[in-house]
Parts: sequence; C-alpha cells; structure tokens
Amino acid sequence: MKFILALIFLSKTLAMTWEEADLKAREWCADLTNEEKISLVTGRENMTGVCVGSIDPIERKDFAGLCMQDGPAGVRFANGTATSWQASINTAATFDRDLLYKVGAAQGKEFRDRGINYALGPSVNILRAPASGRIWEAYGEDPFFVGECGVQIIKGMQDSGTIATVKHFVGNDQENNRGASSSNIPEQALWEVYIDPFYRAVKDAEVHAVMSSYNAINGTYSVQNKKLLTDYLKGKIGYQGPVMSDWWSIYDVEKSFGAGMDINMPGGKAWGPDYIGNSYWGEHIQECIDKGIFPQERLDDAALRIIRSLFKAGQMENFPKVNLYIDTLTEENKALNRKVGADSNVLLKNDDSILPISKENNKKKIKKIAIIGKDAMPSKLCNDMGCADGTLPLGWGSGTTDFKYVIDPLSAITERAKKEGIKVVSSGNDNIISGALTAIKADLAIVFVQASSGEEYITVEGNKGDRQNLDLWHHGNDLVKAVAAVNKNTIVVIHAPGPVNLPFKNKVKGIIFAGMPGQETGNSIADVLFGDVNPSGHLPFTWAPREDYPTDVKYDETLPGGGEQKTQYDYDEGLFIGYRWFDKKNIEPTYPFGYGLSYTTFNYSGLDAIMEEDGLHVTLTVTNTGDIAGAAVPMIFLSFPEFVKDYPIRLFKGFNKTILEAGEAKEIEIFIDNHALSYYDVEVKDYVKPKEGEYVVYAGSNARDLPLKTTVSAAISKKRRNHL
Ligand SMILES: *[C@@H]1O[C@H](CO)[C@@H](O)[C@H](O)[C@H]1NC(C)=O
Ligand SMILES: *[C@@H]1O[C@H](CO)[C@@H](O)[C@H](O)[C@H]1NC(C)=O
Ligand SMILES: *[C@@H]1O[C@H](CO)[C@@H](O)[C@H](O)[C@H]1NC(C)=O
Ligand SMILES: *[C@@H]1O[C@H](CO)[C@@H](O)[C@H](O)[C@H]1NC(C)=O
Ligand SMILES: *[C@@H]1O[C@H](CO)[C@@H](O)[C@H](O)[C@H]1NC(C)=O
Repeated sequence: MKFILALIFLSKTLAMTWEEADLKAREWCADLTNEEKISLVTGRENMTGVCVGSIDPIERKDFAGLCMQDGPAGVRFANGTATSWQASINTAATFDRDLLYKVGAAQGKEFRDRGINYALGPSVNILRAPASGRIWEAYGEDPFFVGECGVQIIKGMQDSGTIATVKHFVGNDQENNRGASSSNIPEQALWEVYIDPFYRAVKDAEVHAVMSSYNAINGTYSVQNKKLLTDYLKGKIGYQGPVMSDWWSIYDVEKSFGAGMDINMPGGKAWGPDYIGNSYWGEHIQECIDKGIFPQERLDDAALRIIRSLFKAGQMENFPKVNLYIDTLTEENKALNRKVGADSNVLLKNDDSILPISKENNKKKIKKIAIIGKDAMPSKLCNDMGCADGTLPLGWGSGTTDFKYVIDPLSAITERAKKEGIKVVSSGNDNIISGALTAIKADLAIVFVQASSGEEYITVEGNKGDRQNLDLWHHGNDLVKAVAAVNKNTIVVIHAPGPVNLPFKNKVKGIIFAGMPGQETGNSIADVLFGDVNPSGHLPFTWAPREDYPTDVKYDETLPGGGEQKTQYDYDEGLFIGYRWFDKKNIEPTYPFGYGLSYTTFNYSGLDAIMEEDGLHVTLTVTNTGDIAGAAVPMIFLSFPEFVKDYPIRLFKGFNKTILEAGEAKEIEIFIDNHALSYYDVEVKDYVKPKEGEYVVYAGSNARDLPLKTTVSAAISKKRRNHL
C-alpha cells in the first residue's frame, strides 16, 4: 500500500508532456558549447567506471553525468544487493498486465534508488527462431503481445522515475554473427512484426530511450540506417528521445552520427585501457561539422533529445547519486518474483489430475515423492550465468544479475512436503541409474531438466548464444525415460528459454514449462506443485519441432563485426511467423501459442463484438466449471476483411486475465484499439484501418482452441454498446 501510494506520488510529480520537456530542454541547452554537447553524446571512453555505460558530468551546468546499466532481469553487477528477477519470457507467460506493470515499477525503483538514469531494457525483439539465444530476454513470438508486455514494463519503470530503454531496434533476432549479419525484412513485415512493439512503446508508453541493434537491415547497419532511425523512428513514428548504440556497435562517425544515432555506448573503440582518448565520436564530431559532413543542427538535436528525455523523466533534479550497492532486495520484491515465477508456470500436461500433490484429500495416496535431476539442486553461479550447473534461474549474458541466493527446487519442495507429512527422496544428479533407483521406491517422481541459451560473447557447452539444437541438456531425455520406465506417476519440470524436444511426452503424466524464474525459483515451483497457486501461465510462443518453424538461426563462421561481409538472414516468411505459419501450413504444433492448463476448467460463451470510434469492444462470458478458484486468460483472434490480401488467417489481438471462484461466471470486456485493427499498407506507406468488409472475431483459450466466433462490420456501428 505504502509502495503504491509512493508510486502514485512519484508519477504525479514526475509526469510531464514531451512538449513541456521540450521547452525546458531548449532553454537548458541554449548556452551549451559544442564541446559540452559532444561530451553529452559520447560515452566516457571506458567501461571501467561504475556503470556499464557513462556520460561525463558537466560541472558548469550542475549536470551530474549519466549512468546506464543492464538489463531486463534486474540491475546487473549489483553484487547481490538487487533482486534477480525472472526472465522476461516468464513475465510474458503470466499474460497478466497488472503483474507486468508491477514488475516494471519494482525494477524501475531499484534502478532509480541506485542513481541509475537508464535501465537497459525491456527487449521487444521477436521470437522468430526457437534456437535464438536471447529469446528469454523478450516476450515471445507475437508482435501485438510483445508490444503490450513492453508497454506495461516501460510504464512501470518510467512511473518509478527510471528511463526505460526499449531495444534492440531492430531485427536482432539471433546471436551468431549478430554484429556481422543482415536482417533482410520485407517492408510490411518490418512494420507489422518487428517495428510494431517499438511503435507501441513510443505511442502508448512514451518510452524515453531506444537502443539500436548490432545487425544490419537490408545490408545497412542499424547504427548507420538513416531510413530506420531518422525517417521511420523519429520521423513517421514521432519518437522524441535519444537513440543509443548497443555496446561497441559504432565503427565510424560520419555514417552513424549522420544517420541519427544520438549516444555512442560505451564510447570507446574496444574494451580495456587501449581506448583511452580513442573514440569514433568525441572530437571527430566537430571535425565532421567543420567539413560540412553533417550540419551543426545534428549535434544540437542529439543533445536536445538527451536532455528532453531527462526532463520528461523527472531526472533533472533530485536524482540520487550513483551507488550500485544499495540494498533493494526487499521482502516485497522477493514475494513479487516468487509470484511471477509461480504464475508463469505453464502446465502442459496433467493426466489423471496427477497435480497438485497433496496427501489429504487425495485418492492418489502420495506418501513419498522422488525429486530427480541436477536441475533441482543449488546453482553454481558463474559470471554472467555462463554455465549451467544446478537449477537454472536465468540464461547467460548481459541480461543477467549477480544472485544473492537461488532457492533450489529440492529445498523448497522438501520444506513444503513436510507440511503434508510427505517424505521426499532425491537423486541430485543426472545419472539415469541413480535416478531410476530413487524413483522406483516413490509414489510420484518429479524430474527436473534444463536447456539454456544466452548472448554470443559467452559459449556454454558448445552453444555460442544460440542453442545448437532443441534437445534438453545433460542427457535430460534419457533421465526422464529412465524414471518414467520405473514410475508411472512421473512429472517433468523444464527450465529453458523456450521450446525443447519432448520425446517422452506420451510416457509421463505431467509436464510443466517453468522457463527461467529468477532467484525464488524453488518456491515458485513448490507453490504450483502443491496447489498453493493454481497455474495460469500460457505459452507466449508456439511449441513445435525445430524443422516445423518457418525460420532458423545460422551458425556461419564468425565474421568481424561491422564488416562488409555478413551472414544474410532473409525474412522470407514475411508476416507468417509463429502460429501464423502453423495456421497457414496447417501444421499441428506440439503445443499452440497461448496453451496452458489449470487445475480447474473454464468455459467460454456469449461472444459479442461492437465496432466503435475508438476500436472494437468485445465481450464474452467466462465460467469456472471446476471446483477450485483459478485465473482464465480468454484470448481474441481476428481475421481481417477479405480485401486485405496475403494476410494471416488469424491474428492475436486481445486478452484479459481474470480470476474466477469455483462455479463463478463473469462477463469480460476485451478492448482492441484501432492500431491493432490496422494493417501496414505498403502503397499508402502507413498503417491503415479497414473501413469496409468484416472482421471475424474468434475467442477461446489458445491459438488452436477457439470455440466462439462472430463477425463484425469494419464500419463504425450505429448501435450503442451496452456498457458493462
Ligand atoms: C560484494 O559482496 C561481497 C559479499 O557480500 C563483499 O565481500 C564485497 O565486498 C562486495 N563487493 C562490493 C564491490 O561491494
Ligand atoms: C528491405 O528490403 C525489402 C525487400 O526489398 C523492402 O521491402 C524493404 O522496404 C527494405 N527495407 C528497408 C528499411 O530498406
Ligand atoms: C579509463 O580507465 C583507465 C584505467 O584503465 C583510467 O586510468 C582512466 O582514467 C579512465 N578514463 C576515463 C575517461 O574514465
Ligand atoms: C459452455 O459454452 C458453450 C458455448 O461455447 C455452451 O453451449 C455450454 O452450455 C457451456 N457449458 C457450460 C457448462 O457452461
Ligand atoms: C479487462 O477487464 C477490466 C475489468 O472488466 C477492464 O477494466 C479492462 O479495461 C479490460 N482490459 C481490456 C484490455 O479490455
């Protein structure tokens, strides 16, 4: 309560429009010298400072300088003083806007309390290929959904007074050769799939910072891509803040600064002492202005954008001094991480209602459970999580945090089982004989397995960021098979960034996809296994064998970053990524987008839709038809009017998570705004909302379970909606 009041207070005092911020910034910048402006746009030539990115102070102006710090899972390099949050793919799997906002707000506060100006997240890149290394740092395969998640996180962060940096603009959808690859994206897909979440971040969340990507788009590096940065992002979309480079992705001054880059991070040419006094930008900006390579206004604009966004964020006064080691690992943050961890568990299979486990009230007569697998054991915590040894709370790379602790599943389950008078036996390694011998004597066996992925600068078990294959690591399949062969009540818990192969799918009774839940991981899984939390997570991606997806990563020989030679990634699938491809090709996935079971059941009925000025108002009734409370996520998919050619059969456009008591029925509104009702017209060169024809509205629980259907005219209805 106190926390919420504080937030409301903060957001009220800080709220400022871009116009107001612009006036203040112009005034502030009026007397800046070129040298000062150049200092504002050029990162300090070092990564030896406190933050991963720094801008020097300007003492004459009482400007304290700027601190930029990674990254989506919390404050990086805080030495255990900050919360080690769940991966973004978990936050997405909750399908819960309120929780997303709360996570953003809590994270934002941790950054601000430390005097960090820019939080380097969220990432809204699209899960285009399941093996791609950083998919756990973003929100899945669907652009509408990724945009919604990004918006909530950004709003939460910015209401706490931190600048959110939405990244990586654009098309960084794989790790191998990310600094020497070209994402070749057709125009409609570029706007509707890859730019769209950034569009939402600018329009719906007024994001204060954007980070560009390492890769090229159509052959031109994103840091040199004037069309994307200046014409599209700043021009057509109307973004008012600065664009910052990803670390060491700038290789020149003329093309990058000239194209519309505003901040060079971390500023120097390489890592280490070499680059003292050695930047592609710095004084070279003045040389370019003198030679007329770009005008003075380019420098004025870059400086103005930085200061404007600081005013907008309320950071130009009373901002704390940088101190990365302030303790913000509060009980509230731990509880929120645990809740998101629990609510993001996706129950994929639950035959014979094998879960939840409980001794009383159970016909299953569970007296002894076996916990099998190294993934249930305490984690070894390597630098940037560049190892997979013990339970897997996060993937590896710059998007990790220094963990103070990790609650391992075995400890949490053992403690929780005690309350039920249930005995726990365990085999804390991946040895199949030990696993089977332990499982044979138990009434129920839970096998913990894993696969990890991360960022390309670390190679873990042969995986250079991107996964080499979608198999479980450490012979996980063999372990599950060995246990299932001796225990008919086998449940599998998977810690992974995304889909894995499931050759054992028909041999086990239960499967939970737990993603990467952060430091409270053990408690989160225990909450769900014992039914303290009814699982309500859903897949933010399609789960299928690798070869069924339209796209994949490439493992070409490593090329020098920023060079002429590039790996070509042709986005030939266009709009048809994820479930859209599976619909078009009529391929049955292992589990569809949106899939996720509960310990109760829901029924959907009474679908209605009315087109009004502001968008489409959909209503439906959800009934909890089981005997315990639970949360349903009704989902809306739309087919567009027929004149929109070569278009996906259906598109995900709405959801609204709702808690229902046993037997309860609720009428739920799902609002779909005009942007979500639009397609990108390459002739018109803009998003267009159809004014004629009909949309078909589908409702149900996932991309392949849409029992309700109605049609609605694209024209605004004269009939008035019955307000709820
Ligand atoms: C990091 O934490 C450890 C253990 O708590 C402590 O000994 C060390 O001094 C800390 N380092 C910094 C830079 O604060
Ligand atoms: C990239 O190339 C495709 C295919 O030629 C084209 O449709 C698109 O407009 C190009 N995008 C950019 C940003 O140049
Ligand atoms: C960069 O780091 C070196 C130590 O490696 C330090 O001596 C120097 O002052 C730093 N330069 C800046 C501009 O911070
Ligand atoms: C479930 O919904 C369908 C419509 O989708 C309806 O025909 C049926 O009566 C409902 N059943 C229950 C138990 O509410
Ligand atoms: C979800 O439902 C709540 C409560 O009825 C409503 O206030 C909210 O606007 C709905 N959200 C959407 C996106 O329709």
